[in-house]
Amino acid sequence: MPPDDALVTCTDAALTFGRDAQAVVAVHGANLTIRAGDRLAVVGSSGSGKSSLLHLIAGLEQATTGSVTRATDVERSDIGLVFQNDSLIPALNVAENAALPLILAGHPEKEAQQAALTALDQVGVRHLADRLPEEISGGQAQRVAVARVLTQAPRLILADEPTGRLDHASGGRVLDALLAAADLTRAALVVTTHDPSVAARLARRRTMRDGRLLAPEETP
Ligand SMILES: Nc1ncnc2c1ncn2[C@@H]1O[C@H](COP(=O)(O)OP(=O)(O)OP(=O)(O)O)[C@@H](O)[C@H]1O
Ligand SMILES: [Mg+2]
Repeated sequence: MPPDDALVTCTDAALTFGRDAQAVVAVHGANLTIRAGDRLAVVGSSGSGKSSLLHLIAGLEQATTGSVTRATDVERSDIGLVFQNDSLIPALNVAENAALPLILAGHPEKEAQQAALTALDQVGVRHLADRLPEEISGGQAQRVAVARVLTQAPRLILADEPTGRLDHASGGRVLDALLAAADLTRAALVVTTHDPSVAARLARRRTMRDGRLLAPEETP
Protein backbone atom coordinates (compact mmCIF):
# COMPACT_ATOMS: atom_id res chain seq x y z
CA MET A 1 0.00 0.00 0.00
CA PRO A 2 1.39 3.43 -0.91
CA PRO A 3 1.72 5.79 2.06
CA ASP A 4 -1.14 8.24 2.68
CA ASP A 5 0.72 11.31 1.48
CA ALA A 6 1.99 9.66 -1.73
CA LEU A 7 1.27 11.63 -4.93
CA VAL A 8 2.85 9.23 -7.42
CA THR A 9 4.25 5.75 -6.84
CA CYS A 10 6.50 3.85 -9.24
CA THR A 11 6.56 0.11 -8.61
CA ASP A 12 9.14 -1.84 -10.63
CA ALA A 13 8.38 0.64 -13.41
CA ALA A 14 10.34 -0.02 -16.59
CA LEU A 15 10.37 1.79 -19.93
CA THR A 16 11.66 0.22 -23.11
CA PHE A 17 11.87 2.03 -26.43
CA GLY A 18 11.72 0.00 -29.63
CA ARG A 19 11.64 -3.76 -29.73
CA ASP A 20 13.71 -6.88 -30.39
CA ALA A 21 17.26 -6.09 -31.47
CA GLN A 22 16.54 -2.34 -31.42
CA ALA A 23 15.14 -2.35 -27.90
CA VAL A 24 16.62 0.24 -25.53
CA VAL A 25 15.75 -0.15 -21.88
CA ALA A 26 15.69 3.48 -20.76
CA VAL A 27 14.42 2.67 -17.25
CA HIS A 28 14.82 -0.66 -15.46
CA GLY A 29 12.31 -1.51 -12.71
CA ALA A 30 12.30 1.76 -10.77
CA ASN A 31 10.82 1.99 -7.28
CA LEU A 32 10.04 5.47 -6.06
CA THR A 33 7.37 7.24 -4.07
CA ILE A 34 6.89 10.97 -4.43
CA ARG A 35 5.12 12.46 -1.45
CA ALA A 36 3.53 15.81 -0.77
CA GLY A 37 6.25 18.32 0.07
CA ASP A 38 9.05 16.19 -1.41
CA ARG A 39 12.22 17.90 -2.67
CA LEU A 40 13.95 15.30 -4.79
CA ALA A 41 16.95 15.53 -7.11
CA VAL A 42 17.48 12.79 -9.68
CA VAL A 43 21.14 12.82 -10.61
CA GLY A 44 22.85 10.93 -13.41
CA SER A 45 25.00 11.25 -16.48
CA SER A 46 23.69 11.81 -20.00
CA GLY A 47 21.63 8.87 -21.24
CA SER A 48 21.16 7.37 -17.77
CA GLY A 49 17.36 7.63 -18.08
CA LYS A 50 16.47 10.77 -16.10
CA SER A 51 14.10 12.25 -18.69
CA SER A 52 12.52 8.87 -19.30
CA LEU A 53 11.83 8.47 -15.57
CA LEU A 54 10.32 11.96 -15.40
CA HIS A 55 8.08 11.23 -18.41
CA LEU A 56 6.86 8.06 -16.65
CA ILE A 57 6.06 10.05 -13.50
CA ALA A 58 4.28 12.71 -15.57
CA GLY A 59 2.19 10.07 -17.32
CA LEU A 60 3.57 11.05 -20.73
CA GLU A 61 4.95 7.55 -21.19
CA GLN A 62 3.34 4.34 -19.99
CA ALA A 63 5.43 1.83 -18.10
CA THR A 64 6.33 -1.14 -20.33
CA THR A 65 6.27 -3.35 -17.23
CA GLY A 66 5.51 -2.52 -13.61
CA SER A 67 3.34 0.44 -12.77
CA VAL A 68 3.20 4.15 -12.14
CA THR A 69 0.16 5.12 -10.09
CA ARG A 70 -1.18 8.48 -9.07
CA ALA A 71 -3.05 8.89 -5.81
CA THR A 72 -6.79 8.83 -6.44
CA ASP A 73 -7.13 12.59 -5.91
CA VAL A 74 -4.20 13.48 -8.19
CA GLU A 75 -5.14 14.37 -11.76
CA ARG A 76 -2.67 14.50 -14.60
CA SER A 77 -3.20 18.27 -14.69
CA ASP A 78 -1.93 18.42 -11.08
CA ILE A 79 1.49 17.48 -12.44
CA GLY A 80 3.51 20.17 -14.22
CA LEU A 81 6.50 19.25 -16.35
CA VAL A 82 9.28 21.58 -17.48
CA PHE A 83 10.62 19.82 -20.56
CA GLN A 84 14.35 19.54 -21.08
CA ASN A 85 14.08 20.82 -24.64
CA ASP A 86 12.23 23.68 -26.24
CA SER A 87 8.56 23.43 -25.52
CA LEU A 88 7.42 26.99 -26.19
CA ILE A 89 4.76 27.64 -28.81
CA PRO A 90 6.49 29.56 -31.62
CA ALA A 91 3.50 31.73 -32.56
CA LEU A 92 2.91 32.98 -29.01
CA ASN A 93 5.09 35.57 -27.33
CA VAL A 94 6.87 34.90 -24.06
CA ALA A 95 4.10 36.28 -21.84
CA GLU A 96 1.43 34.36 -23.76
CA ASN A 97 3.46 31.16 -23.46
CA ALA A 98 3.82 31.65 -19.72
CA ALA A 99 0.10 32.43 -19.34
CA LEU A 100 -1.02 29.40 -21.34
CA PRO A 101 -1.82 26.99 -18.45
CA LEU A 102 -4.22 29.53 -16.92
CA ILE A 103 -5.79 30.44 -20.27
CA LEU A 104 -6.38 26.74 -20.99
CA ALA A 105 -7.88 26.33 -17.52
CA GLY A 106 -10.37 29.08 -18.35
CA HIS A 107 -9.03 31.93 -16.20
CA PRO A 108 -9.70 35.50 -17.36
CA GLU A 109 -7.02 36.74 -19.75
CA LYS A 110 -6.02 39.70 -17.61
CA GLU A 111 -5.49 37.57 -14.52
CA ALA A 112 -3.51 34.99 -16.53
CA GLN A 113 -1.35 37.72 -18.02
CA GLN A 114 -0.62 39.19 -14.59
CA ALA A 115 0.31 35.79 -13.14
CA ALA A 116 2.56 35.16 -16.15
CA LEU A 117 4.40 38.46 -15.67
CA THR A 118 4.93 37.67 -11.98
CA ALA A 119 6.34 34.24 -12.82
CA LEU A 120 8.56 35.67 -15.58
CA ASP A 121 9.88 38.17 -13.05
CA GLN A 122 10.69 35.37 -10.60
CA VAL A 123 13.02 33.73 -13.12
CA GLY A 124 14.47 37.01 -14.41
CA VAL A 125 13.01 37.23 -17.92
CA ARG A 126 10.08 39.63 -17.53
CA HIS A 127 11.83 42.07 -19.86
CA LEU A 128 11.40 39.54 -22.67
CA ALA A 129 7.60 39.35 -22.29
CA ASP A 130 6.85 40.69 -25.79
CA ARG A 131 9.43 38.63 -27.66
CA LEU A 132 8.72 35.53 -29.70
CA PRO A 133 10.50 32.28 -28.75
CA GLU A 134 12.73 32.58 -31.85
CA GLU A 135 13.94 35.96 -30.57
CA ILE A 136 15.34 34.66 -27.27
CA SER A 137 18.27 32.40 -26.33
CA GLY A 138 18.00 28.72 -25.38
CA GLY A 139 18.67 29.48 -21.73
CA GLN A 140 16.07 32.24 -21.72
CA ALA A 141 13.56 29.84 -23.30
CA GLN A 142 14.29 27.36 -20.54
CA ARG A 143 13.47 30.04 -17.96
CA VAL A 144 10.19 30.87 -19.73
CA ALA A 145 9.32 27.17 -19.58
CA VAL A 146 9.96 27.26 -15.82
CA ALA A 147 7.79 30.39 -15.52
CA ARG A 148 4.99 28.56 -17.33
CA VAL A 149 5.00 25.76 -14.77
CA LEU A 150 5.08 28.31 -11.93
CA THR A 151 1.96 29.90 -13.43
CA GLN A 152 0.25 26.52 -13.52
CA ALA A 153 0.97 25.99 -9.78
CA PRO A 154 0.68 22.19 -9.93
CA ARG A 155 0.80 19.88 -6.89
CA LEU A 156 3.85 18.17 -8.33
CA ILE A 157 6.49 20.08 -10.28
CA LEU A 158 8.81 18.01 -12.46
CA ALA A 159 11.72 19.98 -13.88
CA ASP A 160 13.99 18.25 -16.38
CA GLU A 161 17.45 19.82 -16.14
CA PRO A 162 15.99 23.30 -15.65
CA THR A 163 19.48 24.73 -15.14
CA GLY A 164 21.17 22.70 -17.87
CA ARG A 165 21.74 25.60 -20.24
CA LEU A 166 22.27 28.32 -17.68
CA ASP A 167 25.35 29.84 -16.07
CA HIS A 168 25.77 29.32 -12.33
CA ALA A 169 24.07 32.57 -11.28
CA SER A 170 21.04 32.21 -13.57
CA GLY A 171 20.75 28.53 -12.69
CA GLY A 172 20.75 29.41 -9.01
CA ARG A 173 17.99 31.93 -9.57
CA VAL A 174 15.83 29.43 -11.44
CA LEU A 175 16.28 26.92 -8.65
CA ASP A 176 15.44 29.62 -6.09
CA ALA A 177 12.22 30.31 -8.01
CA LEU A 178 11.29 26.62 -8.24
CA LEU A 179 11.93 26.05 -4.53
CA ALA A 180 10.06 29.22 -3.53
CA ALA A 181 7.09 28.34 -5.75
CA ALA A 182 6.98 24.81 -4.37
CA ASP A 183 7.07 26.17 -0.80
CA LEU A 184 4.38 28.74 -1.54
CA THR A 185 1.97 26.33 -3.22
CA ARG A 186 2.97 23.35 -1.01
CA ALA A 187 3.90 21.42 -4.12
CA ALA A 188 6.33 18.54 -4.37
CA LEU A 189 9.37 19.20 -6.56
CA VAL A 190 11.49 16.77 -8.57
CA VAL A 191 14.51 18.13 -10.45
CA THR A 192 16.83 16.17 -12.72
CA THR A 193 20.39 17.37 -13.03
CA HIS A 194 23.93 16.25 -13.61
CA ASP A 195 25.20 19.16 -11.48
CA PRO A 196 26.03 18.11 -7.89
CA SER A 197 25.70 21.70 -6.66
CA VAL A 198 22.09 21.81 -7.92
CA ALA A 199 21.34 18.39 -6.41
CA ALA A 200 22.78 19.51 -3.07
CA ARG A 201 20.00 22.09 -2.73
CA LEU A 202 17.27 19.45 -2.61
CA ALA A 203 16.54 17.50 0.56
CA ARG A 204 16.48 14.07 -1.09
CA ARG A 205 18.68 12.71 -3.85
CA ARG A 206 18.58 9.57 -6.00
CA THR A 207 21.04 8.52 -8.67
CA MET A 208 20.26 7.01 -12.07
CA ARG A 209 22.92 4.88 -13.67
CA ASP A 210 22.45 3.03 -16.95
CA GLY A 211 18.67 3.12 -16.59
CA ARG A 212 18.69 1.96 -12.98
CA LEU A 213 17.38 4.15 -10.20
CA LEU A 214 19.79 3.33 -7.41
CA ALA A 215 18.54 2.81 -3.86
CA PRO A 216 18.82 5.81 -1.50
CA GLU A 217 21.84 4.31 0.28
CA GLU A 218 23.64 3.96 -3.08
CA THR A 219 23.40 7.70 -3.76
CA PRO A 220 26.40 9.68 -2.54
N1 LIG B 1 12.19 8.08 -27.94
C1 LIG B 1 13.26 7.29 -27.76
N2 LIG B 1 13.49 6.25 -28.58
C2 LIG B 1 14.54 5.42 -28.40
N3 LIG B 1 15.43 5.55 -27.42
C3 LIG B 1 15.27 6.59 -26.56
C4 LIG B 1 14.18 7.51 -26.70
N4 LIG B 1 14.28 8.42 -25.70
C5 LIG B 1 15.38 8.08 -24.99
N5 LIG B 1 15.97 7.00 -25.51
C6 LIG B 1 17.16 6.30 -24.98
O1 LIG B 1 16.91 6.00 -23.62
C7 LIG B 1 18.06 6.18 -22.83
C8 LIG B 1 17.76 7.18 -21.72
O2 LIG B 1 17.49 8.46 -22.30
P1 LIG B 1 17.06 9.72 -21.42
O3 LIG B 1 16.72 10.80 -22.35
O4 LIG B 1 16.03 9.28 -20.45
O5 LIG B 1 18.42 10.03 -20.62
P2 LIG B 1 18.82 11.32 -19.76
O6 LIG B 1 19.42 10.80 -18.49
O7 LIG B 1 17.67 12.22 -19.65
O8 LIG B 1 19.98 11.99 -20.63
P3 LIG B 1 20.39 13.56 -20.77
O9 LIG B 1 21.15 13.90 -19.49
O10 LIG B 1 21.30 13.57 -21.96
O11 LIG B 1 19.16 14.35 -20.94
C9 LIG B 1 19.17 6.64 -23.79
O12 LIG B 1 19.92 5.52 -24.16
C10 LIG B 1 18.38 7.18 -24.96
O13 LIG B 1 19.13 7.08 -26.14
MG1 LIG C 1 17.32 14.14 -20.21
